[in-house]
Amino acid sequence: MDIDPKWLSRMNRAVPRYTSYPTALQFQAVDESLYKTHLAQLGKLPISLYIHLPFCRTMCLFCGCSTVLNRRPERQTLYLDWLLHEIALVSEIVQAPISQLHLGGGTPTSLTIPEFDLLLSSLHRSFSFEPNAELSIEIDPRTVYSDEGEKLKALKRLGFNRVSFGVQDLDPKVQEAVKRRQSEEMSRKTFEMARALAFDGINIDLIYGLPFQTLCTFTRTVDVISTWQPDRIALFSYAKVPWLKKHQNAIPEEALPSTEEKFAIYTKARQLFMERGYTAIGMDHFALDSDSLSLGYRSGKLYRNFQGYSLNLAENMIGLGMSSIGFVEHAYFQNHRELEAYGASLEARRLPIARGLVLTPEDRLRRWVIQELMCRFQVDKRQCEALFSIHFDTHFQNSPLAPLKADGLLEETHDKLIPTPLGRLLIRLVAAAFDAYLTQASAHSKLV
Ligand SMILES: C[S@@+](CC[C@H](N)C(=O)[O-])C[C@H]1O[C@@H](n2cnc3c(N)ncnc32)[C@H](O)[C@@H]1O
Ligand code: SF4
Repeated sequence: MDIDPKWLSRMNRAVPRYTSYPTALQFQAVDESLYKTHLAQLGKLPISLYIHLPFCRTMCLFCGCSTVLNRRPERQTLYLDWLLHEIALVSEIVQAPISQLHLGGGTPTSLTIPEFDLLLSSLHRSFSFEPNAELSIEIDPRTVYSDEGEKLKALKRLGFNRVSFGVQDLDPKVQEAVKRRQSEEMSRKTFEMARALAFDGINIDLIYGLPFQTLCTFTRTVDVISTWQPDRIALFSYAKVPWLKKHQNAIPEEALPSTEEKFAIYTKARQLFMERGYTAIGMDHFALDSDSLSLGYRSGKLYRNFQGYSLNLAENMIGLGMSSIGFVEHAYFQNHRELEAYGASLEARRLPIARGLVLTPEDRLRRWVIQELMCRFQVDKRQCEALFSIHFDTHFQNSPLAPLKADGLLEETHDKLIPTPLGRLLIRLVAAAFDAYLTQASAHSKLV
């Protein structure tokens, strides 16, 4: 794709990734009683559970996740104890069955097999699971390699059916620069072990925009990964937020690809994955046609949440663990982001809720529009009017759609807003036109 570099740098603004709307920047302090009221309103419809396991043995310099560097097993034991307390407190209020469980991090697979047994048995005692529930987990290959697949087998035995491996980039020079040393052999072996165990779906995470990446080096990574044929690939843009994650400052600025090169790496990778049989889903995911995410995309059942794109199996999500965010009855709730505060709440038998936001009717309307753009690449104005009792064009008359159209990112018909192929690549920018909170000096990562 031929893109004028000047135009691209003008477009390259700081915009949210819209894993939520409103974004976490809008969250305010909330107290436990508000959270309990919302939890109590959950009926019997299935819900999702997200559990955050923050510990990592080493810190990857690019990491933007909520992690705790840890090499002391007893800290993890204590954390698990708090988590079991939290599960017990929530399940006293919530009766809904679980359709989706996701273990994210940090590194969930820093748990030992007995710790996994303990966690899953507590979950099964406390909640009922739907028969076809999706159980997924993020895996750092370095934590499941040396035991000859024992931990992967345990995950399979415990009912996990989807696994996601963090690979990021296969190039040793890139890995060294971000302090993520993980040989190609290790990534491939763990992938093959998971294949042999017949998990329903295997995802691989890659990141573009890392130091020393070039079109040539990353094309090799894409080539190799696509020959493995994982069911899904997440191709994340390196989110540079050094004001939040100080360790990112250790990556030398001059080693990073330019905006233009980063965009070229992305578009080339996207093209290659599509040529190798993958459907591009939303902004940064790819899935084989046989995968449920592809089927969900085609049938309009895609959803975007804090874990990226997933199948919409439940409207409500409960977050458990330090820093986790849930969405319960039209409100976001986030647990304490510091380990000590999280633990102290649970020691005092209180739910560790810290911040959140109850959505206004206007927030709900804009959240819907942004979800439609991010997940379906269109907005049906008439559907929106029927759902929210508004006149679409009048309601959004002040939204800056004209510049998007002038820049060739958006087309508008009488009934629909449709991002162009270029607008799909920069979909966060199109969505940002409907963000009522976005300010010029926003604390988000750059678009490209
Ligand atoms: C919690 S981590 C994955 C689990 C495991 N700790 C690992 O690294 O393999 C989830 C994913 O977030 C992505 N990620 C982390 N920091 C990022 C950043 N700053 N920008 C873009 N993606 C990032 C990586 O692709 C990573 O695999
Ligand atoms: S990328 Fe994964 S292993 Fe690396 S620091 Fe982040 S959460 Fe930990």
